[in-house]
Amino acid sequence: MSRIYLDHAATTPPDPRVLDAMWEVYTRYWGNPSSIYLEGQEARHALDEARAVCAGLLGAAPREIVFTSGGTEADNAAIRGAAFAQRARGRGAHIVTTQVEHHAVLHTVEQLECEGFTATYLPVDSEGVVDLAALEAAVGPETVLLSIMAANNEVGTIQPVAEAARIARARNPAVVVHSDAVQAAGAMDITPQLLGADLLSIAAHKIYGPRGVGLLYVRARTPFQATMFGGGQEKERRAGTENVAGAAGLATAMKLAWEEMPARTEHALHLRNRLLYGLPERIPGTVITGPPGPARRLPNSFSCCFHNVEGESVLLALDLADIAASSGSACTTGSMEPSHVLTAMGIDPDLAHASLRLTVGKDTSGADVDRLLETLPGIVSRLRSLAGS
Ligand SMILES: Cc1ncc(COP(=O)(O)O)c(C=O)c1O
Repeated sequence: MSRIYLDHAATTPPDPRVLDAMWEVYTRYWGNPSSIYLEGQEARHALDEARAVCAGLLGAAPREIVFTSGGTEADNAAIRGAAFAQRARGRGAHIVTTQVEHHAVLHTVEQLECEGFTATYLPVDSEGVVDLAALEAAVGPETVLLSIMAANNEVGTIQPVAEAARIARARNPAVVVHSDAVQAAGAMDITPQLLGADLLSIAAHKIYGPRGVGLLYVRARTPFQATMFGGGQEKERRAGTENVAGAAGLATAMKLAWEEMPARTEHALHLRNRLLYGLPERIPGTVITGPPGPARRLPNSFSCCFHNVEGESVLLALDLADIAASSGSACTTGSMEPSHVLTAMGIDPDLAHASLRLTVGKDTSGADVDRLLETLPGIVSRLRSLAGS
């Protein structure tokens, strides 16, 4: 039986069209873009082309794009880069973020707390939507940065980033706004102008591109300083010889994702809604987590918890049945802590231990979803009877 992959929020299989573009650049333009001779200049040209494509898709200028090693580095660079630049200008040292951010944001802000900054972690409601009144109360004259994700990786909740940015700037015009758009890229309009974001993070591997490549959008004139030192690459904002083929892969993945967004969205919504409405019908005691309807939720994302089942056991049983699924964030798989996202949403920690996330992709078929819908009820009822409930 063939494997079924329902964990596209963790990573996505590389698109052959992306691999072709990368192969071409890797084999033909392998020079160091900083070298002055022909090989270097050809590589520089390939890098410039990739940058122009990414910038165009974001409605940005090429100089506003900094290539990184992925979403985590983009988040770290954004938060540390803005926080230190703001503090150096004497603007304060208070950071506002939400309780449901990815650990790439949360752990970076926690680290800054060890380095003299203060932080407010905004609460969310039961669907994972940030509390805007709490935001308004939190932002003050000392606040230098707001970091709010465009969409959540565990429950797919879409945050009101533009509204949050407006509220924060109304309280303090000097606040820099960062949005982690790693999950939202390719699924919704993440134009920084539209979101009101000065800084925006994207990772290629969530949109059928290569792992280990991403970008940070840095709006012109945003207070920002490098956090990685060495050569003067990326206009002194990110040292290190550039990953030219990776940048070409990211540019191709973004171009395809942007072009195919309407078709991919319709396909994902159709399959995801079958999970959203089909699973609670087939499995009593299914608690949907995140927004119950499509309006505030990424189109490919389904998540739930099951009463009286161990989440890890469900995942292992699904794996044995050749279905790859997740409990939520790939980073917390294997950890005994319940998800910080689910607990922030007020879900009981015991129930949060039995969480399941299913994220469909552009190549997921109706037959794949059928097999999940046929397989999962048996697994849950077997585990429940083993547990004596
Ligand atoms: C919302 C979000 N931010 C950041 C990251 C980290 O990105 P990367 O895996 O490219 O380091 C992820 C990865 O799962 C994510 O979902």
